[in-house]
Amino acid sequence: MNRDTDRANEAPLDRMESNGTAQEEPGSRRQFLKGSLAVAAGVAATSMWDATTVFAQEDEKPPSGPPDRIDDEAYWEKVRAQFHLKPDTIYLNNGTLGLCPKPVTQAVFDGYVYLAETGSEGRYQLWDEVEESRKTAARFLGADEKEMVLTRNATQGLSVIANGIRMEPGDEILMTTDEHIAGIQPWTRRARRFGIQVSQVHIPSPPGSKQEVVDLFEKALTPKTKVVFFCHVTRGPGLLYPVRELCDMAREKGIVSAVDGAQTPGMTPVDLHEMGCDLFATSLHKWALTPSGTGCLYVREGFQETFWPTSDGNGPWDDREQALWRIGPHGTYERPIRAAIKTALDFLNTIGMDAIYARDRMLSDYLKAQLMEMPGVSLGTSTDHALSSPGITSFGVEGWDSTLLRGILQGKAGIVLSRDQRRTHDLVRVSTHFYNTPGEIDRLIEVLTDVLS
Ligand SMILES: Cc1ncc(COP(=O)(O)O)c(C=O)c1O
Repeated sequence: MNRDTDRANEAPLDRMESNGTAQEEPGSRRQFLKGSLAVAAGVAATSMWDATTVFAQEDEKPPSGPPDRIDDEAYWEKVRAQFHLKPDTIYLNNGTLGLCPKPVTQAVFDGYVYLAETGSEGRYQLWDEVEESRKTAARFLGADEKEMVLTRNATQGLSVIANGIRMEPGDEILMTTDEHIAGIQPWTRRARRFGIQVSQVHIPSPPGSKQEVVDLFEKALTPKTKVVFFCHVTRGPGLLYPVRELCDMAREKGIVSAVDGAQTPGMTPVDLHEMGCDLFATSLHKWALTPSGTGCLYVREGFQETFWPTSDGNGPWDDREQALWRIGPHGTYERPIRAAIKTALDFLNTIGMDAIYARDRMLSDYLKAQLMEMPGVSLGTSTDHALSSPGITSFGVEGWDSTLLRGILQGKAGIVLSRDQRRTHDLVRVSTHFYNTPGEIDRLIEVLTDVLS
């Protein structure tokens, strides 16, 4: 096949590469690419880059399977060895950005080297790898492949959601007073520009029960409410919302349910079909430990028909057969980074989400128990597992500004934390993931006690 014919044959691939869904059997296309790329790049097919091969070295694998006991620190030490942790830092801010394990940073590096070697030819191979990431993300979150599209982060997904739902002037969206700024902004912009109404309901932190949350939402609905929007887990207090119950309530009333899931994948098992929401936007670079700048967006299959894309690429935006590819990514994008999503999710799956959940729960329960003993300290997070996330623990200290306290803890002992300041609360946020240790929590309590006394 001469080069020009080869190019002409590749034309449909240009359309495919902006898609969220594959248009032909990935296996056959992969075979073709492996063969043609090897010829084009002058290398043997076996040297094709593959994000999964970074697990080939035994010492870069996490221990396979969960530990027998969740407090088996020897097991978690082996897991911890897979991270680029700095000895002078105690990292307790996974809710802002998770730490990539070594195989993930290696996969990103190897992917860019591969691109540097093969250029335009190599990017087709990487398209396959990115597709594997997208499908893995769908499975990881309990969705069908055709319901998932990769994004840069939760912020991008939330913006796509707010601009993609059909609404008329005067229609209302109801959200909580605890939304992240990235969840609020696209709605207030749409309100200013297109005359929709944004309303808020206050949910106390912590609430008394799941039913209280549902009742507060239900009471705040009006005949104009077309969309309800809330977090799966709130950014600051780490409140776990009764998503299933809220989505059921919305569906019964013909209201669209959209969820900000930035704080859950990788921290707690997520099953989107079980949750029953129409839309779910998330980052993966927090708890799922994928490279910074990666996330995904779920659009329920039955909802895709009426959902508008809000940016355009090199395929027809109105071809509904192509479902989510209309959302992007458009143009040339960071393929090695997206390809490494699969590496990170494989890493988590090797340990198992149930074990990760249990480990995170154990660490935050341990932390909460100690904070509750401290005079002047009050929890912003619930101790009830049904209302709290396993990874986020927030607390306020009487008479203390949380930004100041956070700064002192970092300056004094290298403890990296976040804070959440709102009209309704002023909290230091501790977000612990499975690579953190009880010893790090002891150190936080020790330094905090010292500072407060
Ligand atoms: C609840 C929530 N939504 C959205 C975001 C935005 O996430 P990103 O910056 O990864 O887009 C965050 C980030 O902390 C968050 O906590």
